[in-house]
Amino acid sequence: MCGIIGFVGKDEQAAPILLDGLERMEYRGYDSAGIAVRSEAKGLQVRKAKGRLKVLSDLTQGGAELEGVLGIGHTRWATHGEPNDVNAHPHISENGQIALVHNGIIENYLELKEQLLKRGVKFTSDTDSEVVAQLLEFHYNECHNMLEAVGRCLRRIEGSYAFGIICSDYPNALIAARKDSPLILGYGESGNYIASDVTAIIKYTREVSYMDDGEIAVITSNSVDVFDDELTPVDKKRSVVDWDVSAAEKGGYAHFMFKEILEQPEAVRRTVSPRIKDGRVVLDDLDLTADYARGISRIYMIACGSAYHVAVVSKYNWERLLRRPVEVALASEFRYSDPLVDEHTLVIVISQSGETLDTMAAMREAKRRGGRTLAIVNVVGSSIAREADDVLYTWAGPEIAVATTKAYTTQLVLMDLVGLYLADLLDSVEQAEYKAILEEIQLLPEKMDQLLEQVGDVQYFASRYFNHTSIFFIGRNLDYAIGLEGSLKLKEISYIHSEAYASGELKHGTISLIEPGTLVVALGTYAPLFDKAMSNVVEVKARGAEVLSITTESFRERMEKTADASVVVPDSHPVVQPSLGVIPLQLFAYYVALQKGCDIDKPRNLAKSVTVE
Ligand code: M6R
Repeated sequence: MCGIIGFVGKDEQAAPILLDGLERMEYRGYDSAGIAVRSEAKGLQVRKAKGRLKVLSDLTQGGAELEGVLGIGHTRWATHGEPNDVNAHPHISENGQIALVHNGIIENYLELKEQLLKRGVKFTSDTDSEVVAQLLEFHYNECHNMLEAVGRCLRRIEGSYAFGIICSDYPNALIAARKDSPLILGYGESGNYIASDVTAIIKYTREVSYMDDGEIAVITSNSVDVFDDELTPVDKKRSVVDWDVSAAEKGGYAHFMFKEILEQPEAVRRTVSPRIKDGRVVLDDLDLTADYARGISRIYMIACGSAYHVAVVSKYNWERLLRRPVEVALASEFRYSDPLVDEHTLVIVISQSGETLDTMAAMREAKRRGGRTLAIVNVVGSSIAREADDVLYTWAGPEIAVATTKAYTTQLVLMDLVGLYLADLLDSVEQAEYKAILEEIQLLPEKMDQLLEQVGDVQYFASRYFNHTSIFFIGRNLDYAIGLEGSLKLKEISYIHSEAYASGELKHGTISLIEPGTLVVALGTYAPLFDKAMSNVVEVKARGAEVLSITTESFRERMEKTADASVVVPDSHPVVQPSLGVIPLQLFAYYVALQKGCDIDKPRNLAKSVTVE
């Protein structure tokens, strides 16, 4: 969704840095962009443009047209007001003194706008964000002190925000504020930064602080001062981001999604290896005792989108290992469902970005009801990671493509490790099974590498099937769970209608949709139910379906007798098998979208991190 960057330098020009930072956040999804730069000679200069960032870059000659060492930039994903140049950020106050960029939603903006209109303030855009620029000017004119004015303004607004602000009276200061929308402070050699996403500034600095809710920061080229909502100074801890710059770059690949699919063996290795010692799962960051585990009466797994599909897989696996009931819930449903959470409830929250608003709100609701929350998150220092009682990171590295791949598989494998860990505490898993699963988890990177050698086969099948307008994914148990993910991947990037069904459900309705030529992707990797799954393949074949199967080495021969085409994945333990079975589905979606000429990394209407409800 929206992206913010700000820079205040000693001598270095701001505009090219702002444009570069915005380009690195393009993956988040946006529909317009803008920058504001302040110079001694020209005051505040603002340029905005609807559409791709290239338009803004051309308009400013790559930033060269705007002189000044202080500036803010924004990519907008429209919420209030259509995507156009006027509604794009930065927003400028009426007398042109203040420029502001905003991520989030101001809930009481209409009420505030009404009050300002009565005072004669003129508005140019339809946005909630412009109201804050105008309100800020109003308070600044009252007190003539920017920090004080920001404090007064924040006390009047309701909603979520990350703000970047510059004022023509402050030639060397950038002001930032945050509540419920991420904002990072970056400490650089040639100046200091703000950004909503670490990828925007990682090329320039790895030293960062994460702003907390209610904080306001005043940033100059050689100082960063942070205050709480009472304007009392706060000491901020600095952290070093260990992501490699190249991890957030395409590095010669046509798409981030493809690069990230290929990065899965390494991402899984990074997530797993530090957590296995002497044949046992070691979760140093997790402080759960056997006593606590024995007192758990209910486990919830809460997430959105693909992260929710990880929960669906993990429910099967954890119930097998823990012999405890696990409920999976879509975060957007959970938060309004009057959920049965108390102090004996363990709530697992799964999120790549750690900023998904629905997931965060569901987590807060669970905490409010007394549940203990454990977050599985990829982005270090993200809001969910900081608010959860416990956090375990997937070490997938930056994931840029909107369609998640390496975050999904690292979440799967980390959930398996946590499941084993809890099962061990509860003594609910046979040691032989524990050992077998752990061994297979350790073998995953190698088996993934082996599987990725078949990229060409999947590419061929995609070229054969990309013209289908409706595609079904069927499977049982864990195969059904990964079918959900395969179907979502295909829908989001290729725009082909698709549905995933538990194969046993076909006869209860869906099989009526199968007609000669319908493409069915049949998943047959879950060994305990392979025979049952096979009967369903036979059923759809009998009605004329074209079947592309995903199966294992062990079942290849039997599957190939019926299916029209097969992709074969290495055998593994059933608990671990989904981490392999899902990869051909990711590749299939990728190659189908490629054949169709879709914008793979930035599919229409979607954003990488969904920070609105
Ligand atoms: O950052 P999160 O994991 O919380 O995001 C959740 C979903 O928005 C995300 O998984 C989405 O479904 C992906 N685009 C799927 O590829």
